[in-house]
Amino acid sequence: MTRMTFDSNQFRQVLGQYPTGVCIIAALGTDGKPVGMTVGSFSSVSLDPPLVGFMPAKSSTTWPKLRDSPTFCVNVLSVDQVEVCRTFASKAADKFQEVPWRPASSGSPVIEGVAAYIDCDLAEVLDAGDHEIVIGRVRELEFAASAMPLLFFRGGYGGFATSAMTASDVDLFDHLRIADAARSEMDALASRFDCQVVASSVVGEAVVLLASAGEFADGTSWSTVGQRFPLVPPMGAPLMAWQPPPTVEAWLARVKTDDERRVWRERIREDRDRGYSVMVESTHLAWFTEQINRRELSAMISALTAEQRRALAELPVKHGDSTAAPAGSIRRIFVPVTTSDGALAVAIGLRLARPMAGPEQLESCVTALKEAALRVAITLDPADL
Ligand SMILES: Cc1cc2nc3c(=O)[nH]c(=O)nc-3n(C[C@H](O)[C@H](O)[C@H](O)COP(=O)(O)O)c2cc1C
Repeated sequence: MTRMTFDSNQFRQVLGQYPTGVCIIAALGTDGKPVGMTVGSFSSVSLDPPLVGFMPAKSSTTWPKLRDSPTFCVNVLSVDQVEVCRTFASKAADKFQEVPWRPASSGSPVIEGVAAYIDCDLAEVLDAGDHEIVIGRVRELEFAASAMPLLFFRGGYGGFATSAMTASDVDLFDHLRIADAARSEMDALASRFDCQVVASSVVGEAVVLLASAGEFADGTSWSTVGQRFPLVPPMGAPLMAWQPPPTVEAWLARVKTDDERRVWRERIREDRDRGYSVMVESTHLAWFTEQINRRELSAMISALTAEQRRALAELPVKHGDSTAAPAGSIRRIFVPVTTSDGALAVAIGLRLARPMAGPEQLESCVTALKEAALRVAITLDPADL
């Protein structure tokens, strides 16, 4: 026998360092009643043929009932289904008592609200120590695009966040999906105009950068995807034209004086009328962007330093008026992608590396952006947001 240099606690501890998703393996028992158990050992196995697998403990009392069924359904739990996870990890007699489900094509249970399900034929069972390895051949599968999966790590439950985001970013998911839909248009714009193109939107109290395409030859980037900027004027100004009135009013309430507020109100109206907004490069803006990037602030208002607040307050009003601003000073142009009910899905923004040659170039950028935004918009459904 191999001498082990670790005990079972250490084994569990080390392997617990590897996070997993959480699934309910469900089937109909021989009596026609649904049975199921929670597993973290689910994995995709093969694409051709399409195989998946999971590993039940030989000590499990549910597994023999599942094994009696020729099919099973893998239910990938959503982040809000911790209770379902607990129920199916318990030894309750009827785990389905309070869990709504419907039959997949095989008849195996698909639990309501799951992030995805994979309906399988039981293909093979392999011996593996105190567990078995079950291979299923996939018959049918589906996922809920707006659901985030439940994760299990070190005995606790949580949700997914990319490294640029925080756990609270589940609210970004729909916006990210739309930004994904804009991806090929953004790539095309970036190469046509030799510029950086970003997709951003207002989520809660912040402007969030959702996606980016292209970068400058000098390697500088607008900012990091996933980054949030506070809705403190002039931050967020280019998106205000397509925000609902309460968001615009809350934003305007943060403007220092009534005079400035009047100017902003007028510019927001102009942006809405002409269907795009612009930003003029200023040293203040460049400095602030650099600060935010370097400090990697979550950029919510509370996270701003006193110095940054002061700089924000002193930012000259230099957004929005392309008729007054010479084309050469315009560095950023934004157009909205709206759903058919008029809500802003994302704004596509173009950041130019060099000063614009003149009004004709501005015109051609705006036209290309609007056309791209339209093509993205027609792929969207109001239910997307
Ligand atoms: C997050 C999580 C992951 C689990 N993963 C597995 C697994 O991969 N294999 C397994 O046999 N049991 C796993 N379990 C334990 C079973 O869900 C559960 O204890 C068992 O099905 C209930 O006991 P019974 O099968 O005797 O009814 C897991 C439990 C939890 C909470």
